[in-house]
Amino acid sequence: MKEAGLKKMISVISARSVTQAPILESSLSRLYTVQAGLYDELYSQIFNYGHEFHRYCRWLRRYRARHILEVGCGSGRLLQFFVKDGFQIEGLDLSAPLLDIAKTRVDIPLHHQDMRSIKLCKKFDAVLVTGRSFTYMTTNDDVLSALRSLRRLLGKGGILLFDNFYAPLILSGFKPRWRDERKVGDKRFIRESRLKLNLKTGITWDWISVLSVFQKTKLIFTDRDSTTLRAFFPEEISSYLALSGFSVLRHSRKKEARDFLTIARAT
Ligand SMILES: C[S@@+](CC[C@H](N)C(=O)[O-])C[C@H]1O[C@@H](n2cnc3c(N)ncnc32)[C@H](O)[C@@H]1O
Repeated sequence: MKEAGLKKMISVISARSVTQAPILESSLSRLYTVQAGLYDELYSQIFNYGHEFHRYCRWLRRYRARHILEVGCGSGRLLQFFVKDGFQIEGLDLSAPLLDIAKTRVDIPLHHQDMRSIKLCKKFDAVLVTGRSFTYMTTNDDVLSALRSLRRLLGKGGILLFDNFYAPLILSGFKPRWRDERKVGDKRFIRESRLKLNLKTGITWDWISVLSVFQKTKLIFTDRDSTTLRAFFPEEISSYLALSGFSVLRHSRKKEARDFLTIARAT
């Protein structure tokens, strides 16, 4: 099919599916509600969960942390690695559909909660916020509520690890349009994205995407999503952490990487 024809068809079908599909958690991107099953398939190709596991493990071992909470655990692909390695781990996420998928992967406590207002009467050695889930903390209120809520889960000396988009690179390499195409099993995922910097509450941008999934040549799903994301400067994160009862141990970033990992200690 010609590109123009495909675009026209996608816009017609996506307009239809937007009005028909229910929004489950109103503040969440449709990627984690209506598209949750597809998210799980697609991101198995986007994130390297084995690599992520080793990145976190290195720090957890250094600080002798064994009892852990993964915040933004999604469909539990990373949790599986921790369980297999013998960590005492629990998961937390705002998306019920993703947690339902996680339940089929791991037999551990999974909490359906918002990271900005976590209510758990327990402490962990370490809390991880993974897969750039902190990106959704777009206002300073969100950031401080989340960090203070995470701080309550740690005793003095407890460790927080979380990753974020690196603002200098996001700004210098900002692309207003991109197209991503991936093959997963017998499906082909095509995501057309439009991005616009809004800079309303930080280094924030609006992301509109149309996801279309084909099986062989047949279009089996299409849907439009819109959300706002945020990138941070490491210095910004250090300041918010200081206001929330943490001190930074390290910001760690691989050369050219779009994201960085922050390791902080509860004070
Ligand atoms: C990019 S996904 C990463 C999921 C998982 N870590 C992975 O690597 O597949 C971002 C996750 O953050 C979760 N999320 C977004 N806002 C949240 C909030 N306020 N509290 C808890 N989880 C949230 C979403 O539901 C989603 O699972």
